[in-house]
Amino acid sequence: MSRPTLRTEFCERVGIEYPIVLAGMGPVAGTGDPVATADLVAAVSNAGGLGVLGGVAYSPDELQAEIRRIRSLTDKPFGVDLLLASTFLIPRPSGVMPKMPSADSFPKEHLAAVRRVAEELDIELKQAPPELEQMGSWVPEGKSWAGAQMEVILEEEVPVFASGLGTPGAFAEALEANGATILSLVGNVRAARQVVHDGAHYVVAQGTEAGGHTGRIGTLALLPQVMDAVAPTPVIAAGGIASGRALAGVLAVGATAAWCGTVFLVSEEANQPDLQKQRILDAAAEETIVTRLYSGKTMRNISNPLIEAWERQQMTALPMGAQTILIRDLTYSIHQAGREELLMNAAGQTAGMLSKKRPAAEILDEMVADAAEILASGLGKRIKAAV
Ligand SMILES: Cc1cc2nc3c(=O)[nH]c(=O)nc-3n(C[C@H](O)[C@H](O)[C@H](O)COP(=O)(O)O)c2cc1C
Repeated sequence: MSRPTLRTEFCERVGIEYPIVLAGMGPVAGTGDPVATADLVAAVSNAGGLGVLGGVAYSPDELQAEIRRIRSLTDKPFGVDLLLASTFLIPRPSGVMPKMPSADSFPKEHLAAVRRVAEELDIELKQAPPELEQMGSWVPEGKSWAGAQMEVILEEEVPVFASGLGTPGAFAEALEANGATILSLVGNVRAARQVVHDGAHYVVAQGTEAGGHTGRIGTLALLPQVMDAVAPTPVIAAGGIASGRALAGVLAVGATAAWCGTVFLVSEEANQPDLQKQRILDAAAEETIVTRLYSGKTMRNISNPLIEAWERQQMTALPMGAQTILIRDLTYSIHQAGREELLMNAAGQTAGMLSKKRPAAEILDEMVADAAEILASGLGKRIKAAV
């Protein structure tokens, strides 16, 4: 059978067959392991899309090994995603990673709220061992976290770089000189203008429907506003795209590709425990909730009693990084108690339409075939339009 044709300017630029990009999904589910590892990245790239590695949690050595593993699994283009924004992830003016605070130095009200939540859920709070020190303890003297990871991305000549939070400004010149294509995720028009000013070649406009860190504006409202604000810079749509119908929709609006996370969370190659995949398959669209509990930034998750108990405390979360340390003992105690259902399970509103675990290639093939059918002939059969 011949393969459908669905090609945009983005496909030409990065050398892929279809305008579907695997979101660079980092660590979730409290395991600390990224979801989009080499296996999923290569599966999506081999199927004709663009696989993007969720790179944020890797040390430079691990990142290099994972990039090389991608290259051993595919000769197709791929990308790496990093989170560039937070109080501790961005390069400091000095370029040095600041020391993270210890949980003892946090506001008493926050520590009390964590104790109340633990009590409510019958979790015995235990102190996490010191070896579970915060991510980033490997950052070499005199370097920033992202800066150390970026050296690897440049050295390995990764063809596509995506910034998940923040702006690519500090690294755009080096990436450009390396011939890399730069994608930057945004959730509003102001951020879209900023990342274009700072060197992004493509803006990824991510609607609130999305799993993981997310903003407040829906995809269909955000996409045309971002397109108008940054034209002629091309825009990729994200948030809520888990079918060929939605893909056709955002392409019709004017997106040059779709950046998809949740739909690939339940792929066979996604690196997350079966419990988490099953909870996504079982969830209805209403069962996701946006919370600052896990990271300090607004993050869409499958809801659970821990999130609900935290939200009832009505606390202002601590900044990104600090909030994770605040709940470190709680997370550790949840693991110890085997209460894995209370751990982070980031997923978007399309969870409600996912019903089976499948190979990533099958997911992508179906989306492409459905979108191509709609755009090539389906619309013409259903809608009469003329200009
Ligand atoms: C489990 C999970 C982890 C994520 N981790 C990251 C990340 O590390 N970096 C990033 O840029 N985006 C991350 N995201 C957001 C995705 O990049 C993407 O924007 C979102 O999944 C798109 O919406 P959708 O989930 O409706 O497809 C994550 C999303 C999920 C669901």
